[in-house]
Amino acid sequence: MSSRAKNSSSALANAAGIEAAKHVAALVRELNDHCYRYYVLSRPTVTDSEYDRLYRELEKLEVEHPTLVQSDSPTQRVGAPVAEGFKSVTHRVSMLSLGNAMDEEELREFDARVQKFLERDAETPEGAESVATQSTEYFVEHKFDGVAVTLSYQSGVLVQGATRGDGFTGEDITTNLKTIRSIPLRLRDGPESAEGVLLEVRGEVLFLREHFEALNRELEGGGDEPFANPRNAASGSLRQLDSAETARRPLTFFAYGLGAVEGVELAPHHAGVVSRLAELGFRVSPLAEIVHGADGLARAYQQALSTRPSLPFEVDGMVVKVNERALQEQLGFRQRSPRWAIAAKFPPEEETTTLEDIMIQVGRTGALTPVAVLTPVKVGGVVVSRATLHNEDEINRKQLMIGDTVVVRRQGDVIPAVVAPVIERRTGAERSFVFPQDCPRCGTQTVRPEGEVVRRCPNESCPAKLAERVLHFASRGGADIEGLGEKLVLALLEHNLLKDISDLYALDPEKLAAIPRMGETSTAKILAMIDKRRELPLDRFVFALGIRHVGERTAQALSRAAGSLSGFLALSPEQLASVPDIGEEITQSVLSFLGDAKERDMISRLLERGLRVMDSKSPSGTSLLGKVFVLTGALPTLSRKDAEALILSQGGKVSASVSKKTSFVVAGADAGSKLEKANELGVAVIDEDTLKVMCAPVA
Ligand code: IVH
Repeated sequence: MSSRAKNSSSALANAAGIEAAKHVAALVRELNDHCYRYYVLSRPTVTDSEYDRLYRELEKLEVEHPTLVQSDSPTQRVGAPVAEGFKSVTHRVSMLSLGNAMDEEELREFDARVQKFLERDAETPEGAESVATQSTEYFVEHKFDGVAVTLSYQSGVLVQGATRGDGFTGEDITTNLKTIRSIPLRLRDGPESAEGVLLEVRGEVLFLREHFEALNRELEGGGDEPFANPRNAASGSLRQLDSAETARRPLTFFAYGLGAVEGVELAPHHAGVVSRLAELGFRVSPLAEIVHGADGLARAYQQALSTRPSLPFEVDGMVVKVNERALQEQLGFRQRSPRWAIAAKFPPEEETTTLEDIMIQVGRTGALTPVAVLTPVKVGGVVVSRATLHNEDEINRKQLMIGDTVVVRRQGDVIPAVVAPVIERRTGAERSFVFPQDCPRCGTQTVRPEGEVVRRCPNESCPAKLAERVLHFASRGGADIEGLGEKLVLALLEHNLLKDISDLYALDPEKLAAIPRMGETSTAKILAMIDKRRELPLDRFVFALGIRHVGERTAQALSRAAGSLSGFLALSPEQLASVPDIGEEITQSVLSFLGDAKERDMISRLLERGLRVMDSKSPSGTSLLGKVFVLTGALPTLSRKDAEALILSQGGKVSASVSKKTSFVVAGADAGSKLEKANELGVAVIDEDTLKVMCAPVA
């Protein structure tokens, strides 16, 4: 090619590149805006499917032009796992704590201190007059009960996020924070985005109550231990080394202030700072109100207390800040907390009662869970008589003894917890609790693997385990067999009518009717209910099996990947590894289940007895199950979209970039760097015809 021809073709390529860059930038902007409307304003203006369409369009462009991937692209919300743990970060401005006011009285005392300090400080005649005659203006907001973090924006782009740590140094959890949709990856337009501006935004990461409850249901559904409260859940989720795991936890961020700021003018009042934060794209406290003097504070406190139960998240108080920043500066700090702010704590939703006994429950995975039997007590409006103690270590850590007076806490709609014993109330009549070494139901010696907190009964036919498994199988997310409750299952076990789940589908009506208090009507009813559930979609069936760590969402992911029951039973480690959102722990658990001859026999019996498992709807075939494809270049007949649809319809996956996980690169005309990468890594390269052959349904 002549040098002129070369020049003009590279000019053409350039022009195309510029177009693509513009298109990418526009899509990033549009998607981030939708994200803001959905997650911050809770007022989406597009449907989920429209969002998905734009997202896929962007993803595709980024695949075709890897150099155009912007750091604020929504595709960058999940990053690579951090192998070595988190790096430490020194805060430019330390993250201090707040002094506490325990009630309205102490809040009034705070106002008096502020007033006095400002008067004494304003010794100049003019100042003395103006300050002494006015009540102080305060800004009140919620005290969020989550995890404090700081977010650094350079020229408007999120570059780092860190935990509070000890206030001076925290941990760099940028990749995890990026997964939180209410954290903008780029600030909305304004002087804060100008070149060279630094803005550190401070706030709390937390779980909305409904998301927390869903997470715990999911964990429990998969046989995992639930979190004691939303705060622990938020903290645990942020500390995941794999951001893909954090991305599965629907966390929310609320901003309440600033850290270091360089190169931009701030509003003179905290109220202005908070409304600016809202304009920049953050969620802020819905309380956000300006009040005056001690009476204003007292009113706001009572109001915040009364609206507390209806909030969608947990708060442990109200934060009061002197509104004017100049006055804040005047007031300054004492030791580690500002004089210009205070946390007015809410009375905890706690009570004391007696720990009468500790029972041991055996779960469907064989886990032995200690449960506190309490003298019934009303906490936060609900009578509490049982509370989980989680595990053996928890009892030791809390040094609980039977007969102790204990503090019980119940927050929002959350499960009650035994916080601690009241040691001063001991009489000497308390007994220490010895955790049983043998299963309380079947007497088998239990096991507790190194490094695990849970003790389990290893006996596969332990009746307690079986009862829980049957109940799980019949639960709403599983086979959904109405009327098959705990009492009936225990009765079935007691009368030897149930040795595993498959016996449910072969119950003898006569034997069933012979159970005391069953009778013919109840028997007919329950058999009809079971009969109604002889056809189960694959995802429900997978969930119903009660595999450890496999909750409803994971079951859905597995069933989408497997397509059919036979696909599921044949899942290989490689296939599992390529299922989105499925990590090492789940993979191991599924493999050990699938490799268990007893479980497979049980499934065969279920099928023999007439249970039908329906294939997962999309994909229609499974010939590409577990295979990851990368498309590059122009294919002779198929459009990029058609090729993708074809691969997905056969259970394959399409990925953006070539890596060792790629199974095939489908290359067309003018294939570029991806083809090179494939050759470099030794990944198989195929053409369109080969792809079509691979996708042809097996006769
Ligand atoms: S302002 C210098 N405002 O409370 C004062 N803190 O004890 C900086 N917190 O872990 C804090 N809600 O993360 C402030 N609306 C709010 C808050 C809040 C919760 C947390 C904060 C820190 C602790 C301070």
